[in-house]
Amino acid sequence: MHLARFHAEPSIFAAPGRVNLIGEHTDYAEGFVMPVAIDFATLAGISPRSDGKIVLYSENYAQERSFDAAAPPTAASKHWTDYPLGVVAILAGEGHKIPGFSLSLWGDVPLGSGLSSSAALEVATALAVLSLIGVSYPGPVLARLCQRVENEFVGANCGIMDQFISANGKENHALLLDCRDLSFRLAPIPANVALVIANTMVKHSIAGGDYPTRRRESEAACAIINGHRGGVPFLRDATLEDLEKWGGEMEPKSYLRAKHVITEDLRTVAACEALLKGDMAEVGRQMGEAHKSYSQDFEGSCVEADLMVELANELPGLIGARLTGGGFGGCTINLVEASQAKAFAEELGRRYAAKTGIEPQIHVCHASGGAHRIE
Ligand code: GLA
Repeated sequence: MHLARFHAEPSIFAAPGRVNLIGEHTDYAEGFVMPVAIDFATLAGISPRSDGKIVLYSENYAQERSFDAAAPPTAASKHWTDYPLGVVAILAGEGHKIPGFSLSLWGDVPLGSGLSSSAALEVATALAVLSLIGVSYPGPVLARLCQRVENEFVGANCGIMDQFISANGKENHALLLDCRDLSFRLAPIPANVALVIANTMVKHSIAGGDYPTRRRESEAACAIINGHRGGVPFLRDATLEDLEKWGGEMEPKSYLRAKHVITEDLRTVAACEALLKGDMAEVGRQMGEAHKSYSQDFEGSCVEADLMVELANELPGLIGARLTGGGFGGCTINLVEASQAKAFAEELGRRYAAKTGIEPQIHVCHASGGAHRIE
């Protein structure tokens, strides 16, 4: 499509979406997350232009937009072009001179389903533009730049998890990320375990509403603890004892949000240890606890996601199920014995549709590799 539209052979880059196994709303608290990259991805094809224009084409939206490379937009406009333009703005801010180019985008990460379609778009675009200007950054640096696209250009106050796993995922592995220093450990996912992603079809968004509210509530609890004993700039540094000591001074909601974040860090590290030992029952148990905490203490779930998890727990082959991603809709992640995955997916879909009248999309996935150039 790029060749036909722009009459130039593109260099093509792919960046995957992600599903988070455990560790929700811990990344911006400098805690732990354990996502995997998935088979859904965004592709970005790029070729240079000599007319000083940046021309962006989205195959998904069937739309083309043109900008002046010497003076690209510096603010978001709530349009899909915000993501590639945000990449351009952040890279320009880093001192890179951005030449004219044509960029074609195509993706199959379901939009608004909590599988990080926007991170995939940012990472694919960043790789494409960087290759054009002959610059290469290590994966963690690339992830930080793309997170800044969200924070500083798009205006979404997210953490680093999604961009990090899209840039650094490894096939057949989950990645335990320490969001404080971006060090990570890879834990193999056994070949007899499938990732079944069940889309509730309830739209998820992090730009507005509940995500920033939850973040503020948990950070308010952190500030109270920090006010007492210092050395707690982030909830990563707080303990359950701190919460018991000073929880009475917190808004009840803040207390519960902090309780989720503090216990979620413990569960996430424990789940990684269990995965490294091949103790899948323990991984599943931690995921189950994590869902309860996300739903009851963090109040980050919704009726449909709670139902999807409940139904999964009734089915043979389930290892663990929970709502994944930013919350309030989107997808659940189910670890399922591979031999049962197909039957599990069909039956889960059938039961969910029967109860809600909503036809869910259910995907049997595997852990894919991170962003790369397609030769
Ligand atoms: C969204 C954000 C991430 C993270 C999760 C919740 O996916 O983009 O940074 O905060 O929500 O764990």
